[in-house]
Amino acid sequence: MGDSINKILSEEGSVFKAPSNIVSEANLSVENYNSLYKKSIEDPDTFWGDLAKKELDWFQDFNKVRDWKYPNYQWFLDGKLNITYNCLDRHIKNGKRNQVAYIYVDENAHEVKITYGELLEKVNKIANGLKSLGVKKGDTVTIYMAMTIEQIAAILACARIGAIHSVVFGGFSAQALRLRIEDAKSEVVICSSYTQRKGKKAELKSIVNEATKDLDLVRKIIVDSRDENFELFEREVDLNDLIKSQSAICEPEVMDSEDPLFILYTSGTTGKPKGVMHTTAGYNLYTHFTTKMTFDIKGDEVFWCTADPGWITGHSYIIYGPLSNALTSVIAEGSPVHPNPDRFWSIVEKYRVNVFYTAPTAVRMFMKLGEKWPKKHDLSSLKVLGSVGEPINPEAWLWYHKNIGLENCAIVDTWWQTETGGHMISTYPSFDTKPGRAGIPMLGVEVDVIDKDGNSTKPDEVGLLVIKQPWPSGLRTCWGEPQRYEKYWNEIEGFYFAGDLATKDKDNYIMILGRADDTLSISGHRIGTAEVESALVAHRAVAEAAVIGLPHEIKGECIAAFLILMEEEVPNDQQSSSIKEKVRTELGSLAVPDEIHFVDSLPKTRSGKIMRRLLKANRLGEDPGDTSTLED
Ligand code: WT7
Repeated sequence: MGDSINKILSEEGSVFKAPSNIVSEANLSVENYNSLYKKSIEDPDTFWGDLAKKELDWFQDFNKVRDWKYPNYQWFLDGKLNITYNCLDRHIKNGKRNQVAYIYVDENAHEVKITYGELLEKVNKIANGLKSLGVKKGDTVTIYMAMTIEQIAAILACARIGAIHSVVFGGFSAQALRLRIEDAKSEVVICSSYTQRKGKKAELKSIVNEATKDLDLVRKIIVDSRDENFELFEREVDLNDLIKSQSAICEPEVMDSEDPLFILYTSGTTGKPKGVMHTTAGYNLYTHFTTKMTFDIKGDEVFWCTADPGWITGHSYIIYGPLSNALTSVIAEGSPVHPNPDRFWSIVEKYRVNVFYTAPTAVRMFMKLGEKWPKKHDLSSLKVLGSVGEPINPEAWLWYHKNIGLENCAIVDTWWQTETGGHMISTYPSFDTKPGRAGIPMLGVEVDVIDKDGNSTKPDEVGLLVIKQPWPSGLRTCWGEPQRYEKYWNEIEGFYFAGDLATKDKDNYIMILGRADDTLSISGHRIGTAEVESALVAHRAVAEAAVIGLPHEIKGECIAAFLILMEEEVPNDQQSSSIKEKVRTELGSLAVPDEIHFVDSLPKTRSGKIMRRLLKANRLGEDPGDTSTLED
């Protein structure tokens, strides 16, 4: 069935008209886009400068919109602001103190609501608590927490005082966490005691304890004990105790536009993840603006991005974008399908969610569970559906459109990256969509698909996806590794190369084909083959490892590992399990291979590079293509 749908959709004319009720009231019509886009590219200073003045509150105006000295850039120079002021204080001043900022729901459908006024107080108390521990502007704080209101407040508390947050997803292992704490040099770590997952408690604090064992760099660990009662070790402090006696007032630190806001680690092509660094003003403006435009926000929507704040999607579209627009957001801790497969749809119905933003892997999972689950619920409040993380296959797109969107919602397939901070390619809700194609460049983003010599490709010809000039929320550097930053702009002289392959059709709709480098996309999360391989060879029995991605029905891609064992080691199931366990402790469960193959040799080039392409073709029974560089 999948094949036939793909075939129908790949034919000319597989265009879905934008819903007429959305078109008639949209923030941005196709005509407006066309003229604004031209202006935004030809005169970015006026375009972004005007927007920055209109959409953000400043403590001091900026003097210059953009400074572009290849490959470095700065935005809104000499401007002073604080992102938490734009996310909280200004809304309270505008009469929204009692508006709900977040509705938190746990797996038992127990809810906690927090208003903008209450959230600011909580943020300020944590901010003052951090100050009392000696945390100051420019210090890094690592956050390893469950998806709770406390997590969001902790993140904002850092931003309040100018500390640089480094959020680590709760699914990462102790080793992975340790590496990130050490690399960021965080003296303070904030964690939750546990996170809820499928009716069980998944320990977080014990992982932090393991990660920070003998790590003297860490002075304090702040623990959100949640409902648990336990004794704390010497350098630990309970979050509630810390904030109990703190004032609910904390003046926002005056931040320069280019002061760092956060670092977030993402996978590259080497074993070591890179700390992508974002700064204050450009990121604030861009996430604010894209939230508003991509999701056609009028102001009173209930917004639900199902990501976790441990990823960039959560930073930009659970925290900063929605708050800056004064929205009410839903956050749901735990599994999407526990205790029942319709958990998400009951949440949409109960809170009358208007914008729902999720990943293709989730859509495919829901699709597999069957349409009877969404059918049990009234989903008519939905207006815009979003997709992010990997290409959404047309079959999943159609299912989403029919069963969740009830054929009446706009679907926005948003292409972007940890590095870009916000949406770069999508369709706006008033645009016709083409399933499988992300769409057009967002306002102010100059995208092209080029060949190796830098020339634009012809329609439907495969090429490299590049961005031709800086946008406000681009990464400024890789933490401690400026040469890795420069690589983004040097790999293809003059352009930012995102690492993806793409095609562009005659209407300029871009289709993302996947990564051009050695990274995989597992459930929409980027993982480097080198990272997994180094975790594998860290196992005492493994001599050599090569990792490839294979198509997977739900995860999009899964990992297959080809291993040469040390002499005298026996290839058997027990060995496989122990090796998988090693990857789990080194990296986390996301990176655990689905398949382990024991082999006697690996295909290599004469220069010794493993030819993963051949392993893949062989495993999938496909034509291996050119093998002239193969040594053996
Ligand atoms: C890579 C970035 C942006 C938040 C989630 C992932 C792939 C992302 C799409 C999409 C096709 C996509 C790309 C990109 N990707 N969105 N809509 N269609 N591919 O962030 O971990 O930084 O990974 O995810 O390959 O380069 P990330």
